[in-house]
Amino acid sequence: SPLRDKHVVVTAGGTREPIDPVRFLSNRSSGRQGAALAEAALKAGAQKVTLVNVNMEVPLPEGVEEVKVSSTLELEKALDELFDSLDVLIMCAAVSDYRPAVVSEEKLKKTASDTFSLELVKNPDLLAQLGARPREGKVLVGFAAETAGGQAGLDFAKRKIQAKQADLLVYNQVGNEQGFGDRPNQVQVINRQGEILGQAAGSKQLVAEKIIEIIINQSILKDAA
Ligand code: C5P
Repeated sequence: SPLRDKHVVVTAGGTREPIDPVRFLSNRSSGRQGAALAEAALKAGAQKVTLVNVNMEVPLPEGVEEVKVSSTLELEKALDELFDSLDVLIMCAAVSDYRPAVVSEEKLKKTASDTFSLELVKNPDLLAQLGARPREGKVLVGFAAETAGGQAGLDFAKRKIQAKQADLLVYNQVGNEQGFGDRPNQVQVINRQGEILGQAAGSKQLVAEKIIEIIINQSILKDAA
């Protein structure tokens, strides 16, 4: 397998941004697609698969190494520590674009006012930060869920892969009966030139296997094998 001496890192789940000791801001990502990707990478013969567990709601596949984080800043630190040793990074986790500007040490109290404002500050774009680093021989894979369909959605995805300097982007059209809950996932994988390298529709397992196959076909990994 072209992955036999490769370390694959997959982020899965969704970040939680603390507000106070008992509250957080988050999203609905369960970590299912990330777990399926880690399992598919192991099946495809990867030497080592690290699953960065970002509040996953599903069990981890057997055989992966787990790194547990919760917030975007924790994820940033974990990826920083893993970056040198990894060969493939699949950024499947849903990362919050913003976090509360201040994390209260005490539980916030209800006030007399009928409204409450929470100030948010922008989180770093982790994939873009890693994409800007020198990375000979490493393959960076991003995800993009877009509600726009057809050419417009694909154009957004092309702009995203270029902005983040990733090698591959898994573009997922959400809404219109796709991508949510038990409905089959449908994805297209594009490269930096915007070419569609492949597509898959079906279960998260099937989609994961197809994505891993496309990653394996990248010349960087092929040449090394
Ligand atoms: O920009 P957008 O959130 O649509 O990009 C999605 C991709 O970028 C995913 O791969 C996600 O893990 C990654 N991302 C990130 N840091 C952020 C936001 C998204 O690494 N702050």
